[in-house]
Amino acid sequence: MAKAPAPSEIDWQNLGFNYLDLPYRFLAHYKDGQWDDGQLTGDSTLHINEGSTALHYGQADFEGLKAYRTKNGDIQLFRPDRNAARMQQSCDRLLMPSFPADKFIAAVKSVVKANADYVPPYGTGGTLYLRPLMIGIGENIGVHPAPEYLFTIFAMPVGAYYKGGVKPTNFTTSYYDRAAPHGTGQSKVGGNYGGSLLPGDEAHKAGFSDVIYLDPATHTKIEEAGSANFFGVTQNNEFVTPKSDSILPSITKYSLLYLAEHYLGMKPVEGDVYIDDLDRFTEAGAMGTAAVIAPIGGIEYQNQLHVFYSETEVGPVTQKLYDTLTGIQFGDVEAPEGWIQKIAL
Ligand code: PLP
Ligand code: COI
Repeated sequence: MAKAPAPSEIDWQNLGFNYLDLPYRFLAHYKDGQWDDGQLTGDSTLHINEGSTALHYGQADFEGLKAYRTKNGDIQLFRPDRNAARMQQSCDRLLMPSFPADKFIAAVKSVVKANADYVPPYGTGGTLYLRPLMIGIGENIGVHPAPEYLFTIFAMPVGAYYKGGVKPTNFTTSYYDRAAPHGTGQSKVGGNYGGSLLPGDEAHKAGFSDVIYLDPATHTKIEEAGSANFFGVTQNNEFVTPKSDSILPSITKYSLLYLAEHYLGMKPVEGDVYIDDLDRFTEAGAMGTAAVIAPIGGIEYQNQLHVFYSETEVGPVTQKLYDTLTGIQFGDVEAPEGWIQKIAL
């Protein structure tokens, strides 16, 4: 794999969401019951034993967060403490040793600082996406937790995740489930995504951005998209998002529930969203770190496309939510206490 081009050769306006092999990543090793200090390394290849549990039994979890360039050239993180905490929860679910939160945040900052020239310029809409990843490694063959673990954080500049960016795109529902009622849907573990590849591929081939999964027990309620949570806006000024034990507790979602109430005067609602009751929404969208806020033009269900606000125009409330969230992330809007952490350059 070729190394990333020099920052001066990057087209910041048209990044998309693609892997790039940047100069530095963080790598720590867990052995004999403890993590080593970890270090920055230029090597993007992991050398692991063939018996590694991550390869056979999906003992792997990850996170996604971003570093943002502000107008005055600073670089800042959005709620990295929430990613550290969620990764600990994912580790608990897979019997993996969690990486201490303070060290997680320090390692994220060291990776951003080491690759600072790859944080896209303010105004391009681009960000530096960070991917913390933990895998079970070492000599093993039975279905047991691994004897050793690797924790890495790598990074790459990214633009829009869904092709439309802030333009609406259509989503579809699926016969397949993403998670089981008491399975691993709440955790950010690799297996959830392996199972989503086939439904995602079918959706893309049919011209949709992503799948909106329904609840695995009854297939009557919206759960979430393959890579983002769902929200709808009602005529009564409510910001509605599904409550379920089998969806990922999205940091963007909890941030928007707060911002909708405290910055936009809306009523935040976490509750059931029935797929046959979409008329209640005047606007809808997908939200997540990679997705940011991606307006949903329509959702296909039982061969019918239910259009929300418009298939081509962003609704006014979605636009306000987007402006408020990204305004905070890029440092143009005052953030709630504790949401932003600056990188000391
Ligand atoms: N749901 C799924 C399945 C995801 O992969 C993501 C992305 O992280 C989200 C929701 C959004 O979560 P967050 O806002 O914490 O990025
Ligand atoms: C994220 O938004 O960080 C995600 O993890 C979504 C996807 C790229 C898996």
